Amino acid sequence: MTKPKVFVTRAIAQEALDKIAQATEMEVWPEELPPPYEVLLEKAQDAEGLLTMLSDKIDVNLMDAALKLKVVSNFAVGYDNINIAEATKLHIVVGNTPGVLTGTTADLAFTLLMAAARCVVEADNYTRKGRWKTWGPKILLGQDIYNATLGIIGLGRIGAEVAKRGRGFNMKVLYYDEMRRSEEEERQLGVEYVPDLVKLLPRADFISVHVPLLPQTRHLIGATEFALMKPTAVFINNSRGPVVDQKALYEALKSGQIFSAGLDVTEVEPIPPDDPLLTLDNVIITPHIASASFTTRKEMAFMAAENLLAGLRGKTPPNCVNPEALKS
Ligand code: DGY
Repeated sequence: MTKPKVFVTRAIAQEALDKIAQATEMEVWPEELPPPYEVLLEKAQDAEGLLTMLSDKIDVNLMDAALKLKVVSNFAVGYDNINIAEATKLHIVVGNTPGVLTGTTADLAFTLLMAAARCVVEADNYTRKGRWKTWGPKILLGQDIYNATLGIIGLGRIGAEVAKRGRGFNMKVLYYDEMRRSEEEERQLGVEYVPDLVKLLPRADFISVHVPLLPQTRHLIGATEFALMKPTAVFINNSRGPVVDQKALYEALKSGQIFSAGLDVTEVEPIPPDDPLLTLDNVIITPHIASASFTTRKEMAFMAAENLLAGLRGKTPPNCVNPEALKS
């Protein structure tokens, strides 16, 4: 029996690739940079399964040309790189990797929070550039984290883990979300619901965004929102770049409307080298590494492999974002 063809767009953990290779005719894109769209389009035309990264665009054009495609297994919890409505219409199941990256992603949000509050990157640069001449009472002053108020926008899995880290620093944790948690969950997490974003922003010393990228969350945070924040506020985003109006963020940081920011995502990725944000000292930008720990990337690889193999067998992947694709 011929094995189904699959295209894996980047070399993930070898153990997971071995598992896929046992059941399929597998091709892995060997480069560090993603396959160009034209290559992906060509590979998809022949494939029954794709294992994709968040940087691979799986759009209407590609899926319409991929007549044998049964499953797209995304190596990420977010799946805004895939047109889900089109996938569902074409009975292509889409898998993602929730859960396994929650703690690691929350760790990075908190790392950025602490680093941006205490000017850690700026201070390291200061040392390396030979500017450390003395101990000074006014050198590199930052914001206190303990006992401060943390405002979380989007209290899903990752937001809730960030809340727990905040509670560990004795922070008061507020949250805004379209869906309110039950009273019991709020009590367990030690969080207070603020039903209106504009009421949360002026109260928070730290603001951390954890919403998926959807039409209704694009530019959720813009000039109006930054204007409501404290001048001492520290702003964190490790969800998706377009959730924030980056020009407005630049203005808020440059003018001192807010104190600092820590970003793991940008509107365009990678951020262009001439982006004005890169001229500022009060922003830290990491290259979308929220889930990048050895353990988590391995677990994501196994989960993505399982999703792919289930989809190839005509089954609903264990973590499927559009199970309705297999109905009718
Ligand atoms: C995801 O999985 O969606 C994250 O953005 C990866 O860091």
